[in-house]
Amino acid sequence: MARHPRERRIEICPMRPSDLDQVLEIERLSFRAPWSRQVFVEELERDWAHLDVLTERGPSGSRVVAFCNYWLVRDEVHILNIAAHPDERRKGHASRLLAHIVDFARNHGCRFITLEVRKSNHGAIKLYRSFGFRPVGIRPNYYVEENEDAVVMLLELATGTE
Ligand SMILES: CC(C)(COP(=O)(O)OP(=O)(O)OC[C@H]1O[C@@H](n2cnc3c(N)ncnc32)[C@H](O)[C@@H]1OP(=O)(O)O)[C@@H](O)C(=O)NCCC(=O)NCCS
Repeated sequence: MARHPRERRIEICPMRPSDLDQVLEIERLSFRAPWSRQVFVEELERDWAHLDVLTERGPSGSRVVAFCNYWLVRDEVHILNIAAHPDERRKGHASRLLAHIVDFARNHGCRFITLEVRKSNHGAIKLYRSFGFRPVGIRPNYYVEENEDAVVMLLELATGTE
């Protein structure tokens, strides 16, 4: 059946080097100390690092609207980065990426997902709490530029043996 011409399709795919221009734009618009292209290039080369983009495919082509970066280390997934384009927030994109990461963690037999978030980032903390993450610690002065603490958040996953 033909797709409606205005229909938009959302996909989550592994990030490719050709996505980096769009990813860096989101990064720059989202963080006070954005990562450089070189940092992303190094992440893309790490065996244990996973980077995904959420793209919207519409009649005029495909656009990256959100991305995430996480590490698989033994039985833990650690989320390093997640961001949505400012024009595309509150549309569920970060939630889609988090659900994708939770699926990935479960499929790899992980017991935990961890992350650090600025204490003042109430929106992100609300998002993580909605997935069952809970605060388990504080890293004082983790964001040195602004002398801001990080909240460490943990999601415990039930494993098949529990
Ligand atoms: C935090 C961020 C990733 C959320 O992305 P998003 O795609 O807008 O998130 P979602 O649409 O999936 O939000 C799901 C829910 O989380 C909560 N939430 C998300 N952003 C929020 C905000 N700014 N204020 C309050 N609640 C928020 C809400 O409960 C929201 O549901 P609702 O829209 O029905 O109220 C996005 O704001 C962003 O890129 N911020 C800058 C980068 C950043 O801070 N990343 C996190 C680093 S730890």
